[in-house]
Amino acid sequence: MKPEELRERIAQAAPWWHSIELAPGIVTPGRKTPEILAGEVAAMRLDALDLRDKSVIDIGAWDGFFSFEAERRGAASVLAFDHFVWSLDLAKASAYRTDCQERGVPVEPLEAVPGLWCPDTLPGKRGFDLACEARGSRVGWRVGDLMTADPEALGRFDVAFYLGVLYHLRNPLDGLTRLAAITREVAIVETHAILIPGREDRALCEFFDDSALNDDASNWWVPNEKALVGLCRAAGFRKVECVSEKPAEPTPRERNLSQRLRNKKYRKPRDPIYYRAIVHAWK
Ligand SMILES: C[S@@+](CC[C@H](N)C(=O)[O-])C[C@H]1O[C@@H](n2cnc3c(N)ncnc32)[C@H](O)[C@@H]1O
Repeated sequence: MKPEELRERIAQAAPWWHSIELAPGIVTPGRKTPEILAGEVAAMRLDALDLRDKSVIDIGAWDGFFSFEAERRGAASVLAFDHFVWSLDLAKASAYRTDCQERGVPVEPLEAVPGLWCPDTLPGKRGFDLACEARGSRVGWRVGDLMTADPEALGRFDVAFYLGVLYHLRNPLDGLTRLAAITREVAIVETHAILIPGREDRALCEFFDDSALNDDASNWWVPNEKALVGLCRAAGFRKVECVSEKPAEPTPRERNLSQRLRNKKYRKPRDPIYYRAIVHAWK
C-alpha cells in the first residue's frame, strides 16, 4: 500500500484506540499514545514471560496492539477476540458521549443507543482489519463474548491477555472462571483497581451502578488487590502474582478520576485511590 493510501485509510478507520505502527513512520492516532502503550507493556512484565512458540489469545483486543506485540515477541499463534467495541460505530459513539458530557446527562449503555450497535457489519473492527493488512500480520481473529462462548469450541491457549476487560463484566468471578478454563499456563489480568487506605486487608470491590467511572455505563466492578487475587484463585488459578506497583501516590490521570468521582457523590473520610492493577494468574 502506498503511504498516501495508507494514511487515508487510517483516517477513514478513526477513531483509533491503539497507536500501532502500520508502516515505517506511519502510526495510527490512538487514544492510547505510543508512550502510554510502552508503559503498559512494561507494566505487564511481558519480559518475564517467554512468548516464543506460545499460543496466545488477546481477549478484548480492540485495534489489536497487544496481539501484534505478542506476534512480535515470537508467539506461534495469536487470536484477537472481541465483540463489544467491534460491534459499535465508534465515531458515532464518541460523538454521542461528547454530546452527553456537554449536556451534563448520563451516558446510556452504548449498545442500547439507536444507531450505534451494528453487530452485523462490525464497524469497530475496521482498525484491527486495516492494521492486520498493512502489517502483513498472521494474527487471527474471532468475534465473540467470553461470557457466552463455548470454552470447548474456543480451545485452550498457553497465554491469555485479559486487559481492561474485567471491570466491564456484570459477573467478574464467572468471567475469570471462563478465563481459567481456556488458559493453559498463565493469564495476564489488567484492571481498574481501588486502594482504600487502611482497608488493604479486606477483599473489597466497588460497584458502579451508573456511568460515573469514566462516563462508561459498561464499567461495573472495581476490585482492590486482595479481591483481585482472591477472585483469580476462586476462579481456578493456582498462583496469582501481583506485578503492578501499589500506588503510593495516584498518577495524574487517576487523581483526576478520583477527584471527579468524589465531586459527584463519593465524599468519604478515607479517599480511595484509583489505579490499574495487573496480575499474572498461573494455572
Ligand atoms: C478498555 S478496552 C481494552 C482494550 C485493550 N485490551 C487494551 O487494554 O487496550 C475494553 C475491551 O473489552 C471489550 N469488552 C468485552 N466485553 C465487554 C463488555 N461487556 N462491555 C464493554 N467492553 C467489553 C471491549 O470490546 C474492549 O475491546
